[in-house]
Amino acid sequence: MARITAGVASSHIPALGAAIDLGKTGEAYWAPAFAGYDWTRQWIASEAPDVVILVYNDHASAFDMKIIPTFAIGCGERYAPADEGWGPRPVPDVIGHPDLAWHIAQSCILDEFDMTIINEMDVDHGLTVPLSMMFGQPGAWPARVIPLAVNVVTYPPPSGNRCWALGEAIARAVESFPEDLNVQIWGTGGMSHQLQGTRAGLINADWDNRFLDRLEGDTQELRHIPHIEYLRETGSEGIEMVMWLIMRGALGRSTRTLHRHYHVPASNTAVGHIVLEPVGD
Ligand SMILES: [Fe+2]
Repeated sequence: MARITAGVASSHIPALGAAIDLGKTGEAYWAPAFAGYDWTRQWIASEAPDVVILVYNDHASAFDMKIIPTFAIGCGERYAPADEGWGPRPVPDVIGHPDLAWHIAQSCILDEFDMTIINEMDVDHGLTVPLSMMFGQPGAWPARVIPLAVNVVTYPPPSGNRCWALGEAIARAVESFPEDLNVQIWGTGGMSHQLQGTRAGLINADWDNRFLDRLEGDTQELRHIPHIEYLRETGSEGIEMVMWLIMRGALGRSTRTLHRHYHVPASNTAVGHIVLEPVGD
């Protein structure tokens, strides 16, 4: 049977991808941000997940105001890196896992989550930067990837509670897939950041770290944080953190932290990163 063995959360800051692509990760400004991922790169090489369910948001690359799916699952064979205005990132195509993705889509829809099914799309920094942070610069990504795109760009994004419940539904779907697969689920985006307006540059390290604290253990407090709190405390783009709750929900009743990293600033955001494993009942 397929099983979810770990959850990973990470910022997906585009400037981190540019630093990798331009060979700048050793520079004084960037080195501390990347150092927090050294542990994870070693760990994931030994874990060797077969499939990563990668929760992210598209930034007007595959979707725009013409279509805004709240939850969209990629069921395609492969996805090319998107051209976000300066050419596609020099990273490998992302290879999907259509059989598991269609199974998750069917299971979640019959579980009353109305997923949008995507068979063709390009994937932007929201998806490719976390792959680079975790896997470095391989010639081919070492895991199949199922993109799970969440609308956190246009109001209204889904609630944290709904995201957590979707994670629980994804876990039920994975556990009912007959093939023996090591599956990880990643939540990306965040942490506190605001890109525009009078509060541009806002970072709230205290709030971010309390959020990280509560990803561990059996508390479910995070699922009840209202949108207005994300907006007030973490800036207009901090709402991306609801995507981490899909990851957390998929890990079941309780979790243990294997690794944690927090660094400010990177570009105009806070870098947050955590690796969790489910703790069996
Ligand atoms: Fe983002």
